[in-house]
Amino acid sequence: MSGLIDQMELSRERLATLLRSTGTEEDELFERSASVKQAYLGHIVYLRGLIELSNICEKDCFYCGIRHSNRELNRYRLTHKEVLDAIRFAHQKGFGSVAIQSGERSSPAFIRGIDKIVRDAQKITGGEIGITLSCGEQTEETYRRWFESGAERYLLRIETSSEKLYKRLHPADEKHSYARRIRAVEALRKTGYQTGSGVMIGLPFQSEEDLADDLLFMREMDIDMCGMGPYLEHAATPLWEERHLLLPLSDRLSLSLRMVALLRILMPDINIAATTALQAIDKEGREAAIRIGANVLMPNITPARYREDYFLYENKPLSARDDEEELGYLDARLQAIGHRIGYHRKGNSLRYKKRTGREQ
Ligand code: 5AD
Repeated sequence: MSGLIDQMELSRERLATLLRSTGTEEDELFERSASVKQAYLGHIVYLRGLIELSNICEKDCFYCGIRHSNRELNRYRLTHKEVLDAIRFAHQKGFGSVAIQSGERSSPAFIRGIDKIVRDAQKITGGEIGITLSCGEQTEETYRRWFESGAERYLLRIETSSEKLYKRLHPADEKHSYARRIRAVEALRKTGYQTGSGVMIGLPFQSEEDLADDLLFMREMDIDMCGMGPYLEHAATPLWEERHLLLPLSDRLSLSLRMVALLRILMPDINIAATTALQAIDKEGREAAIRIGANVLMPNITPARYREDYFLYENKPLSARDDEEELGYLDARLQAIGHRIGYHRKGNSLRYKKRTGREQ
């Protein structure tokens, strides 16, 4: 079996074939990726409390529900206090880190606001909480400023590594340039962040070969973390018109799981998140991803009343449980699949530790 899915043999063609696999071939892939994960990372799952800071966005990506041109939603920005309360909650509950995600903005007030959050988060937790930012493309100077204030990780999805496909998914202007996005990922690496990226899976016009290239791209960029998940159509976006091209949801889910499995085999020591979009298709989608290779979960800890306005795609899961009950529920679900939560641990990427020799 290992001969079949040897890391060295995973050429673009082989990856594309495995992305199409079904039945016993797919089972073998999942067994292999699960054992790679076990060997490198054991059965610990790290938590990142997800804070959806703001749905105000300067960008106009054709797939995204919070795109600038969408007038059908109520725009918000959490107050500084609301963010710090959420961080305090995460810290008290033993989440090793939080991920602060926002629509993309470049105003000095926005940049200052993030900076203050990062500083105050360090202060109120005595430096015990890891901070991941996911606030889009910024200048190198801004990345450096936030890093120096204490943000140690940054997540910037490349969305797709195919320039051709990227152009079909974004307006043709400098703000949405493919080259600029790649440069931003490189700037994050250079600044010293644990750098994460990722893609959407099952996009219209996307082939298995494109996805194979995405996997190789992530290896090439030597990323430390990855968040990727199925594309889910949203009625208030231009890409909705292409929905007839999409795979059925269940196929998008299984394709996403094969992506996670292959990435785990290609990059055994990175952090891979079981993303919310998986859960939007199947309520156990995230657990399935954990079983076959993911090692990070991002429970939403945004104040409940804002959650329905951070609506990137249809069927976004909104839990009826409060955050504390949700944590107990997740804990039990993970135990049921032989995993346990790494409470009070930042859960830095092993790849990053090896690359830099640093614990942090
Ligand atoms: N379906 C799935 N993921 C989406 N994102 C944005 N819109 C969609 C969608 N319709 C993802 C993008 C972005 C992240 C915040 O959410 O990958 O980087």
